Amino acid sequence: MSEHMNEQENAGQAMLQLGGPVPDFEAKTTHGTIKLSEWAGDQWVILFSHPADFTPVCTTEFMAFAGIADELEKRNVKLLGNSVDSIYSHIAWVRNIKQNFDVDINFPIIADLDMKVSKLFGMIHEPSADTEPIRAVFFIDPERKLRTMLLYPLNVGRNFDEILRVVDALQTADKHAVACPADWRPGDKVIVPPPKTTEQAAQRMNEDYDVTDWYFSKKQV
Ligand code: BEZ
Repeated sequence: MSEHMNEQENAGQAMLQLGGPVPDFEAKTTHGTIKLSEWAGDQWVILFSHPADFTPVCTTEFMAFAGIADELEKRNVKLLGNSVDSIYSHIAWVRNIKQNFDVDINFPIIADLDMKVSKLFGMIHEPSADTEPIRAVFFIDPERKLRTMLLYPLNVGRNFDEILRVVDALQTADKHAVACPADWRPGDKVIVPPPKTTEQAAQRMNEDYDVTDWYFSKKQV
């Protein structure tokens, strides 16, 4: 283990699990100091990290996050960026993106100079880099439970269709108590949870779903 991360911090990283609570934190951001729980209120949050300000792939990603910001807002999702750069660096980079690309970055960005948030969420993957976070995306629901975690390396930018698709799939699954199949898109049929008893399995064949077999049924929602 490196000198940068003690055993407790490392164990803390491993404790973030899908379906479990995310740790609350207070952090300085470009929109002032934010306490996650208070700032999020009853909304979803996408907390994401980028390796560093003023780097090209991160710049394309920031513009892509800005590009889906309206769609996320329609879905009750707030965006929160994070890197280990300073507030001044974030401000300068956001202004630079506006100047070079005419794109407004309107979401807050954490200045995680002490790596507190990055370590709390396991964003520092030392084999990749010990001084900057990887490209992580945490989907946090209104009950502050971690629902999906996407991790990308330093040299591959994220897929923003997938980020929106995951939000849609999670919210559809919650709303209708269903599951979303491979490559599901809004408007596609969803999976009806399989029966849990032999009696229910027999009955399933007669249900008004698109039933292929007792364990495999779809419906339109
Ligand atoms: C980039 O955003 O271009 C980048 C950042 C860190 C490592 C490699 C690429």
